[in-house]
Amino acid sequence: MDRYLVFGHPVRHSKSPFIHTLFARQTQQELEYGLAEPAVDEFAQALRTFFDQGGKGCNVTVPFKEQAFTLVDRLSPRAKRAGAVNTIKLTDDGVLLGDNTDGAGLVADLKSHGVTLADSRILLLGAGGAARGALAPLLAELPSELVIANRTHAKAQQLAAEFCDLGHVTAQTHEQLAGSFDLVINSTSASLQGELPPLAPALIHTDIAIYDMMYGASDTAFISWAKQHGARQTMDGLGMLVEQAAEAFTVWRGIRPGTKQVLRELKRNLGVI
Ligand code: ATR
Repeated sequence: MDRYLVFGHPVRHSKSPFIHTLFARQTQQELEYGLAEPAVDEFAQALRTFFDQGGKGCNVTVPFKEQAFTLVDRLSPRAKRAGAVNTIKLTDDGVLLGDNTDGAGLVADLKSHGVTLADSRILLLGAGGAARGALAPLLAELPSELVIANRTHAKAQQLAAEFCDLGHVTAQTHEQLAGSFDLVINSTSASLQGELPPLAPALIHTDIAIYDMMYGASDTAFISWAKQHGARQTMDGLGMLVEQAAEAFTVWRGIRPGTKQVLRELKRNLGVI
């Protein structure tokens, strides 16, 4: 049977085996999907061994995405732009192809929630790996403006400069942020520590869409905060997780699984509904 897995550390709580097993059942694909948690300095060897032993493809998550970028034979254009690889496929001619489906997953999830990206004014919080992966797919939707704000402003400036060929993208400090945004995307890892990016409450209004790439059994700190200040449409990263997986599954198997039912099952599994 064709074998796939996700590499990460820690990875025990990954939902990817659950999601891909449901995709396989739904599309009647014969495959198995497992977990691998190599020591941080043993990822390269573990990856080689997996493919030497007949593995067909894998996902890569924290902290290995940047390392995977350097280990594959070929990169997709979107992985090259993201500077990170979250999906690897062994092609029929034996090439390890590195791809990145995170940004496509984000955009697909935003669209599934009915968020309009074209001509919108987007605020992206954070300038780490997650922000970098999201930028090209977001700019491809032709927002009128995309502003990056980050605790360390220099990193936001660097990202804006790197992606300015793809659209109207600027970096602003939190103090500079003004005007009305249609969508705020939190790509920072602040929620992991139960912290908030330092956003002024005045930027939140009833018609704004709020997206946190993090998720949990209950609202993230950022989503709770935005709701308190009047945001009516809030979304967490669970849908993005399922959508990036669907995109990876499509890369591997050439068939696109449906995501709605799988997202529902995942929420049930997490005790969210
Ligand atoms: P990831 O790959 O998840 O993006 P990362 O590359 O380590 O992880 O980036 C983490 C991002 O979250 C950064 O933008 C970081 O801000 P700095 O560049 O200033 O470090 C941001 N971040 C992490 N904790 C934060 C906090 N408590 N408040 C605000 N921003 C935070």
